[in-house]
Amino acid sequence: MGFNLGILISGRGSNMLNIVNASKLGLIDSKVKVVISNNKNSNGISEAKRKNIKTKVINQKDYKSKKDFETALIHALKGEEVDLVCLAGFMSILSKDFLQQWNKKVINIHPSLLPNFRGKNAVKQALEKKVKTSGCSVHFVDEGIDTGEIIGQEKVLVSNNDNEETLGKKILKKEHVLYIKVIKELERKYL
Ligand code: GRF
Repeated sequence: MGFNLGILISGRGSNMLNIVNASKLGLIDSKVKVVISNNKNSNGISEAKRKNIKTKVINQKDYKSKKDFETALIHALKGEEVDLVCLAGFMSILSKDFLQQWNKKVINIHPSLLPNFRGKNAVKQALEKKVKTSGCSVHFVDEGIDTGEIIGQEKVLVSNNDNEETLGKKILKKEHVLYIKVIKELERKYL
């Protein structure tokens, strides 16, 4: 048994695409029902379309309030009977009202070993702190910024000559592995 996945993105969409591919290949039982971007220029939207996945652009700027924006998001996700919401590079903080619709079924991926380096520029923050090990985390989403309970992590060694681009790439590779692992784990746990 799998989840009906709704993936929220804002940009590149490589994690989204990786989940779509894993689902199509049967590596996870869950199916991607809809990909929603809050940015009409998001590269991920065209990628998802190419894979014949239903897409939607829901931009906060087109709504009177954050509440109305989230109502539109909820409506689009519920319309597809989404029961696991996966954030993948989605640049908007979700409110309690949104999160309550999916009790502990909203997850996010972040390019650091949380609780270290929350928020934006996590890879840069890790380099600035000269850490020897970094990585990525998947966590349940709460109302804070990257503060929810951690579900899984993957580590990456930082070498002396790593820069934001090289370390970012190493971490992204692990992100793709980790997100699938966590979805499988949640399938086993909840379904
Ligand atoms: C990833 O590094 C993810 O951890 C962070 O945003 C980035 C999204 O990349 N939350 P992509 O759009 O999945 O390629």
